[in-house]
Amino acid sequence: MKNNKKTVLSGIQPSGELCIANYIGAMKNWIKIQEDYNSIFLIVDLHSITVSQVPSELRKRCYSYLCQYLAVGIDPEKSIIAIQSHIPEHLELMWILNTITPLGDLSRMTQFKDKTKKNKENINSGLFTYPVLMASDILLYNADLVPVGADQKQHLELTRNLAEKFNNKFSPTFSIPDPLIPERGSRIMSLQDPNSKMSKSDANLNNLISLLDDPDLIVRKIKRAVTDSKSEINYTNSKGLANLIDIYSSFSEKSIDEIEQFYIGKQYSDFKSDLGQIIIESLKPIQKKYSQIIKDKTYLDTILKNNSSKASQIARKTISKVYRKVGLVSKARLIY
Ligand code: TRP
Repeated sequence: MKNNKKTVLSGIQPSGELCIANYIGAMKNWIKIQEDYNSIFLIVDLHSITVSQVPSELRKRCYSYLCQYLAVGIDPEKSIIAIQSHIPEHLELMWILNTITPLGDLSRMTQFKDKTKKNKENINSGLFTYPVLMASDILLYNADLVPVGADQKQHLELTRNLAEKFNNKFSPTFSIPDPLIPERGSRIMSLQDPNSKMSKSDANLNNLISLLDDPDLIVRKIKRAVTDSKSEINYTNSKGLANLIDIYSSFSEKSIDEIEQFYIGKQYSDFKSDLGQIIIESLKPIQKKYSQIIKDKTYLDTILKNNSSKASQIARKTISKVYRKVGLVSKARLIY
């Protein structure tokens, strides 16, 4: 990737079913980003095992995510799509970064606090050092920009601190990455509880629409989505309705104003039924492409192989540099 373009890197944990919140808040933007940046989109499987997973399902889900990355339009010739665990340098850099990460910084991470509250029976040290692995994902490729949800801002702040600390302690090595937080409207909320965000790991599947949900299910979930007892379609009526209008706007590329105008004199049921159809039609090409490629393991493995070898080339360079700066004896000396 020797060019003047900046590097963008992002990742999603393979836990739960990818949902429209991932699509609207992240993946849809990745498709545009890949045209102008060197881009790396990871399936961060090593992060996902900080929470207990069923091994056979995790493995299947990684392939399913890969297919969905491809089906929404991420081009494996333009972007690097890789499974994190295929590039062991992530773990090598993590160790080095661990040695400069203050314990206090990790214990201040709100996501760690939240996760340990929810996950009392499995508070493992992976959950604690999770942000250091994320920092290594980002710094390994010298990413300039990192598209993430607002909940990841603190992890990115830590990444920047670690990069600066390393650069100061040794010598300039890492770019300092900036977060790219999606604008309002691309933050999609739960259908049943519009005060919390729509999450692919939600146990209640009525809260989310998966990218692979079939049309009947989509219609049913939208019908059941919480709104309010008002009658005009107005963005300010309730969080629930505003969320549905945001989803409508994102899939139809119509503005909130246009949508409100269009539904003057119409009912919530008209709006919901149109919204269901818009989502169904938007997901149709994605689902079609998905079903074409999901069974073609050879094709998928070729993509994984080619892409992780591209990623490894960059990663190897960074690790050699980092090991040298830290004072480790180069193994390459012994071989050549
Ligand atoms: N922690 C991120 C999340 O849960 C996922 C992630 C891991 C990530 N590594 C990353 C995101 C690197 C951006 C860049 O959303």
